[in-house]
Amino acid sequence: MAFKQTLFRLLYRIGFTPWDGHPVAAQLQKLVEELPAGNAIDLGCGTGDASIYLAQHGWTVTGVDYVDRPLDAARAKAAAAKAQVNFVKADVTKLSHEGVGDNFHLIVDNGCLHNLSDGDRVHYVREVSAVAAPHARLLITAFLPGGRFGVRGVEPAEMQRRFSAGWTLLSSGREGQLDEEQTPTNYYLYERENP
Ligand SMILES: C[S@@+](CC[C@H](N)C(=O)[O-])C[C@H]1O[C@@H](n2cnc3c(N)ncnc32)[C@H](O)[C@@H]1O
Repeated sequence: MAFKQTLFRLLYRIGFTPWDGHPVAAQLQKLVEELPAGNAIDLGCGTGDASIYLAQHGWTVTGVDYVDRPLDAARAKAAAAKAQVNFVKADVTKLSHEGVGDNFHLIVDNGCLHNLSDGDRVHYVREVSAVAAPHARLLITAFLPGGRFGVRGVEPAEMQRRFSAGWTLLSSGREGQLDEEQTPTNYYLYERENP
């Protein structure tokens, strides 16, 4: 994890962030139209666009990233938009120990899981499950393998395997662009089973 965190720090410092500023995911917009507002967490929130979008639609939002620079930018953007978001520096693989809260009704991930190592993916699933409310929705947007710049991506079969316990897949399919390169991207929408 330390290497990837250092890499993200460097990428933000030099301004090489091709993901930044992509449109709000179509599936997230659809979900926001369907669900009553509640508590949401945005995992690997970057400069906060999805968090701010949710806050503007009535959600109480925590945005989490482990790099300071995008969090600072996210706070500035939220202030400019007059949106109330709690941006917190935390590692998504340790969520339940990072004081980010729990009982989230909606968990959103735009491009975070897809770059984690195998070991971190195990921790991620455990931690996301720990902070989810009963019947929470989890919307993950992720590159398929083979994208550019060495992002690992994730196969649908791997998603099925990793979320087979405690989560029900409601729908999945192609999502619009998550980066400037229009790398093929899927969404996965899960519902937390009542533990
Ligand atoms: C591809 S960017 C996407 C940012 C934002 N979600 C968006 O759509 O613009 C991935 C983000 O996840 C963050 N990240 C990656 N691994 C993380 C981890 N283990 N804990 C917290 N944040 C992480 C990175 O710092 C980066 O901001």
